[in-house]
Amino acid sequence: NTRVLTGITTSGTPHLGNYAGAIRPSIEASKLSSVDAFYFMADYHALIKCDDPQRIARSRLEIAATWIAAGLDPDVVTFYRQSDIPEIPELSWMLTCVTAKGLMNRAHAYKAAVDQNVARQQEADDGITMGLFSYPVLMAADILLFNANKVPVGRDQIQHLEMARDIAQRFNHLYGQGEDLFVLPEVQIDDEVATLPGLDGRKMSKSYDNTIPLFEGGAKGLRAAVMRIVTDSRQPGEPKDAESSHLYTLYRAFATPKASAQFRKELEEGMGWGEAKEQLCTTIEAELAPMRERYAELISRPDRIEDILQAGAIKARRLSQPLMERLRAAVGLRSMS
Ligand code: TYM
Repeated sequence: NTRVLTGITTSGTPHLGNYAGAIRPSIEASKLSSVDAFYFMADYHALIKCDDPQRIARSRLEIAATWIAAGLDPDVVTFYRQSDIPEIPELSWMLTCVTAKGLMNRAHAYKAAVDQNVARQQEADDGITMGLFSYPVLMAADILLFNANKVPVGRDQIQHLEMARDIAQRFNHLYGQGEDLFVLPEVQIDDEVATLPGLDGRKMSKSYDNTIPLFEGGAKGLRAAVMRIVTDSRQPGEPKDAESSHLYTLYRAFATPKASAQFRKELEEGMGWGEAKEQLCTTIEAELAPMRERYAELISRPDRIEDILQAGAIKARRLSQPLMERLRAAVGLRSMS
């Protein structure tokens, strides 16, 4: 069976980008009988960006409820919280010891933080923690511990996957004795979605504060957010360029190819932005409305979600322990029992 694995950082409210880029394709994949799915809440990753404990706890609850409301079946998927798996930080340290610092210097998130400091005429590494710097190593541990073959993510995570492969290869080379300890994971990207734009047209992201929340604010909140999407100044009646329009990109992520072609044609024939936003709203709402009810029910029962995550952690640890024993022996910390 193919092992599919993905995680979401628990530092904010889940948004349309998380849903279309990661949650929806992952749930589709989990329904195939040829797939063993591992989906988790990346709460150790959240500590890198967020020092507000309440926000972390709330985000975990929201993200877990979102997965289940969107159709994840905890009896089929191994569904867990990263920090319930002590083998993850253990492996992360082993990987840290074989990862070249130079590789981490090239990570986009770290480079962006350095560039920002330089632009503000501060010390290059001002305010940058070791957590941010070694973020890709922790992510590699998440993936390699479960020997995942495929990792469904948005385009922003491609570099992290490449680094995970690099690190795995290095470890296999040093310790594998001709036999691979780690599977090399492959990225899986939905081309129709790739990168969902946010309100201002940049990538939809918690860090840009331009997200459209999935459920928070209800149908009204969704509508209000869609109405705030930035468009150009073309008036109703003037032809619009669909390809460069964020509304069209968003619409395509939620509509059938046929409906998308029709939407595009109407834009090119001069549909007003107001009308286009109404159509976008209706399309997204049709997909989210049934989930929103399940979400509301789930979020009111944190105890049930906790039970599900605990059961998932037991399953995940059982599956990860044999590899971990092999790894401890391979590097010389233990002998093989
Ligand atoms: P995170 O929490 O930033 O995002 C979770 C998932 O949502 C995708 N995504 C998007 N997709 C399309 N358009 C967007 N605008 C958009 N914004 C976010 C992300 O690509 C991601 O798939 N480091 C990861 C979490 C992680 C992980 C892992 C993922 C930790 N360990 C192991 C896979 C495997 C992150 O911060 O994603």
